[in-house]
Amino acid sequence: MCERDLRWVHSARNHDTIRAASGSDKRISFRDHRIWFDCSDFVDKLVFTEDEKAKGVILYDRRSNYWGFYLRPSVNPHAGLGRVMLSLTLLWLKREGVKVIKAEVKRENYGSRGLHESLGFKLAGATELAIEYEKEIKDGNA
Ligand SMILES: CC(C)(COP(=O)(O)OP(=O)(O)OC[C@H]1O[C@@H](n2cnc3c(N)ncnc32)[C@H](O)[C@@H]1OP(=O)(O)O)[C@@H](O)C(=O)NCCC(=O)NCCS
Repeated sequence: MCERDLRWVHSARNHDTIRAASGSDKRISFRDHRIWFDCSDFVDKLVFTEDEKAKGVILYDRRSNYWGFYLRPSVNPHAGLGRVMLSLTLLWLKREGVKVIKAEVKRENYGSRGLHESLGFKLAGATELAIEYEKEIKDGNA
């Protein structure tokens, strides 16, 4: 992710559907968005593109090992793009030497839960609001 992605990522992360899926449904000002972008060098910020068009974002926090992601709200849902984006990300993270990926998924986010489970994430815990998933990356799997 670079400077030119800042605007569309800001608008996507404030979109109703993305806020509903994320841990906090608070709107983020552009100023705070930029501070996050400038000050979170421990977070890998990947932009997923198709036909040279940005279609989604994946964030991987190297301190906590949690990832988060979303497709641009304008992308057709259930067309298989989320699976492609995450499968490629798993390969990239493996190449980067990442050993574990964690995810916190809202209970009612059945799409993301199904996606994590089909990508080999295991149940690691649960709260009233969310399911915790974890995936170990070993040689030979991603
Ligand atoms: C989650 C998200 C990336 C999925 O992208 P997508 O392109 O719609 O998903 P895909 O078409 O690739 O579907 C992949 C898999 O997800 C699961 N899935 C998708 N929608 C589902 C639903 N409504 N119920 C259950 N499982 C579902 C299925 O396992 C599906 O695999 P299948 O098509 O082989 O059955 C996308 O919906 C998104 O950006 N959502 C908002 C943000 C978000 O929820 N982020 C995750 C926060 S933890």
